Amino acid sequence: MGFDEMDVDTIWKNGEFLDWEDATTHVLTHALHYGSGVFEGVRCYDTERGPAVFRWDEHLDRLFDSAKMYDMDIEHSREEITEATLELLDRQDLESCYIRPIAYYGYDTLGVSPKDCPTDLVLAAWPWGAYLGEEALEEGVDVMVSSWRKHASSQVPTNVKTTGLYVNSMLAGEEARRNGYVEAIVLNKEGNVAEGPGENIFMVNDGEIYTTGPAQSILEGITRDTVITLAEERGYEVHDEAVISRGQLYTADELFFTGSAAEVTPIRSVDDTEIGAGTRGPVTEELQQAFFDLVERRTDDHDEWFTYL
Ligand SMILES: Cc1ncc(COP(=O)(O)O)c(C=O)c1O
Repeated sequence: MGFDEMDVDTIWKNGEFLDWEDATTHVLTHALHYGSGVFEGVRCYDTERGPAVFRWDEHLDRLFDSAKMYDMDIEHSREEITEATLELLDRQDLESCYIRPIAYYGYDTLGVSPKDCPTDLVLAAWPWGAYLGEEALEEGVDVMVSSWRKHASSQVPTNVKTTGLYVNSMLAGEEARRNGYVEAIVLNKEGNVAEGPGENIFMVNDGEIYTTGPAQSILEGITRDTVITLAEERGYEVHDEAVISRGQLYTADELFFTGSAAEVTPIRSVDDTEIGAGTRGPVTEELQQAFFDLVERRTDDHDEWFTYL
């Protein structure tokens, strides 16, 4: 569904609330030419205790870390950004939604050096259902190993969330969809598993849980951290710096993706090879249930992770 079909009308930019159609930027904006933007994707859940933004502080931490990487000076405080975001949701009566903060080098000159360009900051929000489809949460997704490799973290920082890096995600994801799959798994430069185009990946084998770590050129996802915490609290051994070979994907008992957009999505096949029984596995189901119980606040656990509207 396109934005025009959504009931959203307000964008916050550089300290001001703007009408949706006025939230524009010049075509010679630095970030448009060189991918010099940093962003976040955050979910607000309509919980049993009212709308609540999930792990807002951690997303803000990562936004500021990403900005730091590119010497970008976000001129608004965390408090200001938080207040503006909550007001943005309130003004549009958004309860369950996706929030997109983005900071980017704006309009001034077009040398590769952004030193004269301002840092613009934009906050947007819109309703967004299950990223890989509602059915995917239950049935799992069919994925392929992409022929595109992920950037190595020695070539470009992969631990921060930079707009320009998403051309790699786009190529991998579109290649998968062109071939009839829902999503891709992207290997790193060494040929081991990195992550999905917009998700981290988990593997379950013999009741233990494995997920790749920052040294495998991944974005250290906030959902990944959430699921690791939930798994450990349930007594699972979690190997969070795992090196997973391509071959291990096909013989895994269970695989699943995590992400703010993808939440916890089971993977039922890789390159047409069924994973486990070819359905959502029991550990995946347990952790998925724990995740949704948490974010929809059917438990008192981790209330510190929620910013209520
Ligand atoms: C490349 C990539 N990896 C992992 C993730 C998952 O991160 P998070 O759980 O913080 O959304 C995302 C989504 O933001 C992503 O784009």
